[in-house]
Amino acid sequence: MQKTPFARGFATRSIHQGYDPLAYHGALNPPVFLTSTYAFDKAEIGSQRFAGAADGYIYSRVGNPTVSILETRLADLEGGEAALATSSGMGALTTVLWTLLRAGDEVIADRTLYGCTFSLLRHHIQRFGLTVRFVDLADPANLAREINSRTRLVVTETPSNPNMRLVDIAAAAEIARGAGALLLVDNTYCTPYLQRPLERGADIVIHSATKYLGGHGDLLAGAVIASKDFIDQFRLVGVKELTGACISAFDAFLILRGLKTLALRMDRHCANALQLARELERHACVARVYYPGLDSHPQKALADRQMSQHGGMIALELKGGLDAGRKFMDAVTLATRAVSLGDAETLVQHPASMTHATYAPEERAAHGFTDGLIRVSVGLEDYDDIRDDFVAALDSVR
Ligand SMILES: Cc1ncc(COP(=O)(O)O)c(C=O)c1O
Repeated sequence: MQKTPFARGFATRSIHQGYDPLAYHGALNPPVFLTSTYAFDKAEIGSQRFAGAADGYIYSRVGNPTVSILETRLADLEGGEAALATSSGMGALTTVLWTLLRAGDEVIADRTLYGCTFSLLRHHIQRFGLTVRFVDLADPANLAREINSRTRLVVTETPSNPNMRLVDIAAAAEIARGAGALLLVDNTYCTPYLQRPLERGADIVIHSATKYLGGHGDLLAGAVIASKDFIDQFRLVGVKELTGACISAFDAFLILRGLKTLALRMDRHCANALQLARELERHACVARVYYPGLDSHPQKALADRQMSQHGGMIALELKGGLDAGRKFMDAVTLATRAVSLGDAETLVQHPASMTHATYAPEERAAHGFTDGLIRVSVGLEDYDDIRDDFVAALDSVR
């Protein structure tokens, strides 16, 4: 499925791949095709396009020239054959699930996942005759033990949102393949700049492009990257007929703009996060810092193997638990109290009452994260300013 070796470097491809200005009147930036429908030369051509016998656009729920440029670029950056851009990360996930699964199938999902992904799998999908089992995939032996002939799909995030546990993608892919199942990796936290799951044997990568790919907190979007055969099904059955979760051409344009600085931004997010994680670990009020670049992270060796840097996300617990965490969040003055992640601004939020409120308290405990956990999306500000803000806020809760 994977299409490497790449002809050019990552940053170069993030800027140029899939777009030739000379094909668009020399416009340096791709035009935004604000059109819902497309004219056919002759009725026969329309019929052929609908039958899949001729190339060409028919309706923007199925394809749009601006969106196509984005899809070509994303497929290339992830090292996949093809990509589908969607209206949100949840739109990407539901499009994949509705297309692939049939009543009677089983899904194995990791124990910690983004709150709405968890809620979809825990509370809603069973209505359609599917079984979901939550397994701790941080240890591949658990997957090997639990997978069976009914398992169609294994769903993971690595690092997982919010507690930064990792899944060994190569090991999980081998086990899934051996059982005839597919491995889906949500690569939102890493982006293809830090980690490319398809190169390690995963079958399907999804993204919330709302986050680092867009990078500026000004849009909602998602993406799926996989083999051309799967992407054709996700587009022509999934988005076209099951979810309708198509992206707008304008949001595709904004992501193309964001991608031009992805490598630069990720370098800065990672550098700021590593320094901040080390500083937080030294602070007397902090009980624990979860960051895969720290020696204290139990899966640091796996992180070094599978990620090129350790990402821009940190989770921490304060010694005073939830009360101290709330005081800390109220005391920051530079960081913004907000959900989402991957923006230029440093964001702090409280998963148990915000993004992961979909987990019941006993599920949070069983799935490995506490009510006191604070999640930080480390931004692009000057590191010293972020550090001073966090240290002052922590000092104030002593
Ligand atoms: C890891 C991860 N996956 C998927 C999503 C869902 O993406 P969206 O909000 O674009 O639907 C999120 C949102 O926070 C996320 O953090």
